[in-house]
Amino acid sequence: MKAKTRNIFGAALLAAAALMLVIGTFQTTGFAAEPTKVTVKSKRGDVEFNHATHQRDIKCEKCHHNFKGADRSKPKCSDCHKAKADGDTPDSKTAYHNSCQKCHKAEKKGKPDTKAPTACNDCHKK
Ligand code: HEC
Ligand code: HEC
Ligand code: HEC
Ligand code: HEC
Repeated sequence: MKAKTRNIFGAALLAAAALMLVIGTFQTTGFAAEPTKVTVKSKRGDVEFNHATHQRDIKCEKCHHNFKGADRSKPKCSDCHKAKADGDTPDSKTAYHNSCQKCHKAEKKGKPDTKAPTACNDCHKK
């Protein structure tokens, strides 16, 4: 009876160790750290983006649509979305407006007093 309890305990320890190994591997495969604040440079006026508050409430994949499974090798939108569209990759303005603006407009419909900005100059600061 005693031996059996010890076995179960041992198995639980092993499982915990295996789990930590898995988590450890994920942590060391080199995902870039999530930023707290990002300034997206723009000729129209730079846009301040609070990554921390957004990522608290919104799933990563909602914005980083290229994060499939565990592949987060391209965390920057600008890795793909450039000033000009390239093949089927839309330009930066289309990508950001259709991500940021679309969500903010939808948010505003439900909550007119939301802090999510939809006016040009509330995002683009000179
Ligand atoms: C509301 C949209 C949004 C959400 C949600 C979001 N991100 Fe981001 N993230 C961005 C934007 C925009 C940038 C800046 C991209 C750029 O500079 O081109 C960024 C940048 C990053 C970067 C830094 C890239 C670099 O090297 O500077 C990492 C890492 C990252 N995000 C990971 C995550 C993870 C992990 C989550 C979920 C826990 C997440 N993001 C949620 C929009 C978002
Ligand atoms: C690995 C390359 C890559 C990265 C990184 C990437 N995108 Fe994209 N994105 C694409 C491609 C290709 C398309 C067009 C095909 C599709 O819709 O998947 C696209 C389409 C989009 C669209 C739809 C545009 C439309 O016509 O309505 C939005 C919005 C978007 N991206 C936003 C973002 C944002 C925001 C980020 C960063 C948080 C980002 N993308 C990062 C490649 C990328
Ligand atoms: C899926 C929905 C969603 C997306 C995508 C999104 N936002 Fe927001 N954003 C919100 C909501 C909701 C708020 C209001 C939060 C509050 O009321 O405190 C907000 C607030 C803000 C604010 C004002 C408060 C603050 O945090 O500074 C700015 C600026 C902002 N967003 C910029 C952006 C930019 C730039 C992008 C694209 C890179 C973006 N957002 C993408 C939902 C979104
Ligand atoms: C929710 C935030 C947000 C709002 C609101 C917003 N934008 Fe943007 N806009 C961005 C981001 C982020 C970019 C991407 C940075 C870039 O490529 O210049 C961008 C890009 C642009 C660009 C491309 C600049 C260039 O040099 O290619 C123009 C022009 C622009 N916006 C005009 C506007 C106008 C006009 C409005 C109001 C009708 C507006 N934006 C509202 C966030 C916003």
